[in-house]
Amino acid sequence: MPSDLNIDALRDSALSAIGAAESLDALEAARVAHTGRRSAIVEILSGIGKLAPEERGPTGKAANAARKAIEAALDERHTRLEAAAMGDQLLEDRTDVTLPGDPFPVGALHLLTQVRTEIEDVFLGLGYRIADGPEIEDGYHNFTALNIPEAHPARSSSDTFYVAGHDDIALRPQTSPVQVRVMESGPPPVFIVSPGAVYRRDDVDATHSPMFHQLEGLAVDEGLTLSHLKGTLVHVARALLGDDVEYVVRPHFFPFTEPSIELYVRWMDRHGRGQWLELLGAGMVDPNVFASVGYDPERWTGFAFGMGIDRMAMVRYGLPDLRLLFENDLRFLEQFA
Ligand code: DAH
Repeated sequence: MPSDLNIDALRDSALSAIGAAESLDALEAARVAHTGRRSAIVEILSGIGKLAPEERGPTGKAANAARKAIEAALDERHTRLEAAAMGDQLLEDRTDVTLPGDPFPVGALHLLTQVRTEIEDVFLGLGYRIADGPEIEDGYHNFTALNIPEAHPARSSSDTFYVAGHDDIALRPQTSPVQVRVMESGPPPVFIVSPGAVYRRDDVDATHSPMFHQLEGLAVDEGLTLSHLKGTLVHVARALLGDDVEYVVRPHFFPFTEPSIELYVRWMDRHGRGQWLELLGAGMVDPNVFASVGYDPERWTGFAFGMGIDRMAMVRYGLPDLRLLFENDLRFLEQFA
């Protein structure tokens, strides 16, 4: 017959097994062994009915108390082991804040945007303002108001991109129509520059592309002369390309200026040879252009110019090929970020 002593011994050995369990698995094994259906305590409890009547009460009481103590110890140990397991898991999952982060790509201004802004800044410093105009233009602003005759090759679809189905609407082949729009919008004096994209069916080589960028300039006031034009252009070329920039001014022809000039600067080509590169066309505004916008050509004079922004970038940074600016190869662009 199990005595109280026996029951105490069973309880103590169960409690020490529970105390020794170092994992939830080990604890579960102790629970099965000490409170499971085949455990000694349960066997005692289920054998109570076979005991002598006077033993049933005390034995049942002692066995139940022992089972309760064992179950309480199991519960307590379970809570503790579970918390420890959770702590281990948390330690394992801990974020290592000393690891290098995922790189986050930071954008930068495109080289052309940088050069455009630098050119704008020089003109803003001279008191010019920046004007804007549409890239899709009508024939009047693209050509007629600029004194470009009906038969001029620039008007033909072999030079200019026309909008399909509209023989009077084209992608502007130059920024010069902005001159007309600015003069239409108000009286002189006018001092503006207007940067933007232009489009031509140009043969593609290292210095040409069917889309490129110009910066148009227009100054209208009383008493402006070719000297003012040349002084302005040389000032800008020096500001952007250095005081020792080598330049040449040559006479030229444009329908919207009289007289007309071109400015060339020295540039290193892809073979490292110094070349003269045409940077801009310019001239004194033709009286016919003033007449088409209602300015009095007897009172006002002015000069205008159209500078290649992409070409300015080529000369300034010694680029061998203008097309590099439009291919968007990051290995190239990142050098100027
Ligand atoms: N529009 C000319 C071109 O595309 C450049 C130019 C020449 C602009 C003379 C002007 C100018 O304003 O007066 O080549």
